Amino acid sequence: MRQISTLSEWRAATEDIRQSGQRVGVIPTMGALHEGHRSLIQRAIDDGTTPCVTIFVNPRQFNDEVDLHAYPQPLDDDLARCREWGVAYVLTPTIQEMWPSYPQATATTVQVAGVTEEFEGAGRPGHFDGVASVVTKLFVVTGPSTAYFGEKDFQQLAMVRRLVLDMGFDIDIVGCPIVRDDKGLALSSRNARLSPTGRTAALAISRALKWAADRPRTVDEIDHHVRAALIQAGIDVAYVAVVNQETLQTDIVDGSARVLVAGIVEGVRLLDNAPVVIRKDDTTCC
Ligand code: PAF
Repeated sequence: MRQISTLSEWRAATEDIRQSGQRVGVIPTMGALHEGHRSLIQRAIDDGTTPCVTIFVNPRQFNDEVDLHAYPQPLDDDLARCREWGVAYVLTPTIQEMWPSYPQATATTVQVAGVTEEFEGAGRPGHFDGVASVVTKLFVVTGPSTAYFGEKDFQQLAMVRRLVLDMGFDIDIVGCPIVRDDKGLALSSRNARLSPTGRTAALAISRALKWAADRPRTVDEIDHHVRAALIQAGIDVAYVAVVNQETLQTDIVDGSARVLVAGIVEGVRLLDNAPVVIRKDDTTCC
């Protein structure tokens, strides 16, 4: 495995991969790697690409300094995991390498309208501009490739798909299923900040989503049940929404939709989601 810290070397390395007839599989991360990241890397390997991981805690996507400073950065462990999981190249740039004017504001910002406006976008101003900007930069320096993103950050995935479509990047986006622990909690680097009691409370989220997904239900049933389950577990509900999987609006056309949930447990913002089938007929309620 080769660790690279400059964008020019990364550009050259990914170009070499293509020149040798291989496809580049890029897995953008902020480190603190867990089994969820491993599943993205494994998917890139299974697809026959050369797995290239980027590790960069992007300050521009944190609208809260406390959250940024609390973000875990176990770089040595991350590199050991990448090696063990079969990664070929890892990009670990400094903040100055990615954003030369930092800590001054960067003049150029990429903004994706529409899909970013509600949910995480409403609760975390500037967050998606930061993600869109860093993802754009990574796509530009990596060049034609397949990029792997987890479905846990469903709104982020929808935004990245829109970005690629609008900007014409030669990048295939692959969304990969959420990975859960044995109790059902969606894996996230933030879970490390939960106490055992917080972890138990957080399980109400995946339980409620499982209930929502296990048979066709109306939007109202899902909304009421999921909210009530979270409140009962002492979770501060940021949002529960049943949306069209592409537009993230309430224009659900063919009965297939996504439930998006964000809840705050012990100050930690937890995201989860599940595909659901919407039943329009209310006469045969559960
Ligand atoms: O999902 C993440 O880890 C980050 O938002 C990403 C895509 C690596 C951009 O910093």
